[in-house]
Amino acid sequence: MACLLSALVSCKTGVKPAIPEDKALEARVEKTLKGMDLDTKIGQMVQLNIDLVVNNDGLDEAKMERVFGRWKIGSILNVYKGEAQSREYTAELISGLQDASMKYIGIPMIYGLDMIHGATYLAEGTLFPQEINIAATFDTRHATNLGHVLAYETRAAMCPWTFSPVMDLGRDPRWSRAWESFGEDCLVQSEMAVAETRAIQEEGVAACLKHYMAYGAPFSGKDRTPAILAVHDMREKYFRPFKECIEAGALSVMVNSASVNGMPVHASKMLLTDWLKEGLNWDGMLVTDWADVNNLFTREHIAADRKEALAQAINAGIDMVMEPYDTLCCVDLKAAVQEKLIPMSRIDDAVRRILRLKYRLGLFDNPTWSTTAFDKFAGPEFEAMAYQAALESEVLLKNDGILPINKGSRILVAGPCANSMRTLSGGWTYTWQGTDDPAYVDRFNTISEALALKFGRDKVKCVSGIEFDQSRYEWQKELDINIPSVVAAARGVDVVVLCLGENSYCETPGNMDDLNLSTNQKDLLKAVASTGKPVVLVLNEGRPRVIGDVEPLANAVVDVMLPSNYGSDALAELLAGDANFSGKLPFTYPKHVNALHTYDYKVSENVETMEGEYNYDAVMDVQWPFGFGLSYTTFGYSDFKCSKSEFKSGDMLDFEVTVTNTGSIAGKEAVLLYSSDIVASMVPDVRRLRAFTKVDLLPGESKTVRMSVPADELAFVGQDGKWHLEKGAFRFSSGPCSCYADCVETTVK
Ligand code: BGC
Repeated sequence: MACLLSALVSCKTGVKPAIPEDKALEARVEKTLKGMDLDTKIGQMVQLNIDLVVNNDGLDEAKMERVFGRWKIGSILNVYKGEAQSREYTAELISGLQDASMKYIGIPMIYGLDMIHGATYLAEGTLFPQEINIAATFDTRHATNLGHVLAYETRAAMCPWTFSPVMDLGRDPRWSRAWESFGEDCLVQSEMAVAETRAIQEEGVAACLKHYMAYGAPFSGKDRTPAILAVHDMREKYFRPFKECIEAGALSVMVNSASVNGMPVHASKMLLTDWLKEGLNWDGMLVTDWADVNNLFTREHIAADRKEALAQAINAGIDMVMEPYDTLCCVDLKAAVQEKLIPMSRIDDAVRRILRLKYRLGLFDNPTWSTTAFDKFAGPEFEAMAYQAALESEVLLKNDGILPINKGSRILVAGPCANSMRTLSGGWTYTWQGTDDPAYVDRFNTISEALALKFGRDKVKCVSGIEFDQSRYEWQKELDINIPSVVAAARGVDVVVLCLGENSYCETPGNMDDLNLSTNQKDLLKAVASTGKPVVLVLNEGRPRVIGDVEPLANAVVDVMLPSNYGSDALAELLAGDANFSGKLPFTYPKHVNALHTYDYKVSENVETMEGEYNYDAVMDVQWPFGFGLSYTTFGYSDFKCSKSEFKSGDMLDFEVTVTNTGSIAGKEAVLLYSSDIVASMVPDVRRLRAFTKVDLLPGESKTVRMSVPADELAFVGQDGKWHLEKGAFRFSSGPCSCYADCVETTVK
């Protein structure tokens, strides 16, 4: 019956299964399903927070008996006591829970952890830069490394499932989670997320793509608030990373907590079932985000109570409910089934997907495993990868010649991020909000410590002048403001490295009302600049805080974003000129708070002054564009060619461009290839990134860089929801070079 069902689905959608069917595995799923009563099926569909099975001393036998014995719960999430634990203890807890699940239910539970930029919740684990930095490297090898290391260390702690990668397009810089993703472009997002997903799953851990979808476009800029989006944009841009990761074999997906076009995604059958499960012929598992079924009635007001909300979500396509606190959810779910609000066929489908995930992870055969042999855990190989990712992700945005800083210079390091580990990593670092216990990070260097190691302790002093409040939700509060102390210290140095930005935050607590950098920090920059000392402005922030009025006061600007534990060592190396910058912005850095643009805007958004008496003043005035990043060397582009001057659907367009290091030191250049659809039947984007790669070049060296773009990638989604590749000219560009090619055939896919 299962085979017949999946055959029908493929036939109906005409799409080959995203994950090839394994008949033997399906037979085991069916057999297990047949042996389950309704209570067990319902319990398997519920995920609870770890608090419900532990007490202050660890696992709680009575609670485990209740959760697994009475309620048959299928999954547990989160970290014990809300903060990172040792890997040994994490493994001990998870294996204890697994033993209880096997004893009481005979079905393994699946444990899930938010391992976001590495082993978030393991005290000694390896942390990479956050995803926004990985995107800035424009090199998918770093996403692959992140995925492998993250999953290896997750498995080393007995955990088979991680809520990663994050693949919300961060297209609104106000949003508090933009840094969790790979930036504003759907191609960068897709390629990085596919690389990370593959790597995670190659280590035997299930990835969970999140948050499906359009979570990164809240109309108000605030987390978990409604998105209002054109359906063609959703299909063309927001859906793409999910589609590509699912086609790469992703085993699970977590859903966007907010609503899109008036419908909470958790209740959208169109998005969950029609687009994702059936549209991609995907047999994986959909889990809600935190308490989001409850939110359908408490926050969204589309259901009167939990029973109704459960019916809406499960009928829409949800398989597992991250409740996360109340076992009585099982009672409501059972009532919804008994009252026929949810058909039994949907329950069976959901449970089948949950069992399939557990079988695919091998949990039925090996519910636990030995964690003694993970000898690469947090070792030098992983550290080197995290350091290299940080080095290639920090973006040089301005340099009037002050950088590199001469060895022997006397340096003042100032600002609230000068001597802080917490600011370097951001949220999802040892704790949810990234409020670190110094014990976790004592072994790493803050920016001032790294500069002291690099330039000499006698040459580097640190006076912060502003401190961030260290309490959990007060990240915006600035304390101990003492600007005169910094001005006085600046008098005796040759250069000031001023480290401004944001304290760590995460999710809704990270909401804020003004994208401007704080007044105190701007005042600090003004005061330091008034001393006449050269200022290297280091931006250490999760989102681009607006600095349009004060940026001219800095002699150099480096955006390190959230490079994490090795980010300062990398910065010291770069500022000293012992390594070269190669990061580029994966988002548009705004100059004004009322002008938040993405690089793929419409031509009409940049019309400058109209002829005649009207000035429409629609001018694209950004601080730094997407893809911008300087280096200590220069690169020249020449001989840009496209393999075809005319093309049609199904063709492959092969591009070549010669990139030359025209400066005197070695460097890496991210080469970006854009297309512009000159005339289209729907307003075209001014440009779209179609391919990217990165090359290493010695001084004077040239390399021919090759990139390919399938012609069908140039199609757009029309108002009819379908893909169109229209006849007409396309302009392609890379660096300052450009060429044209003509599409000669119209196709509707
Ligand atoms: C977040 C998710 C996370 C989940 C579980 C939610 O609040 O939105 O990204 O995976 O919690 O911790």
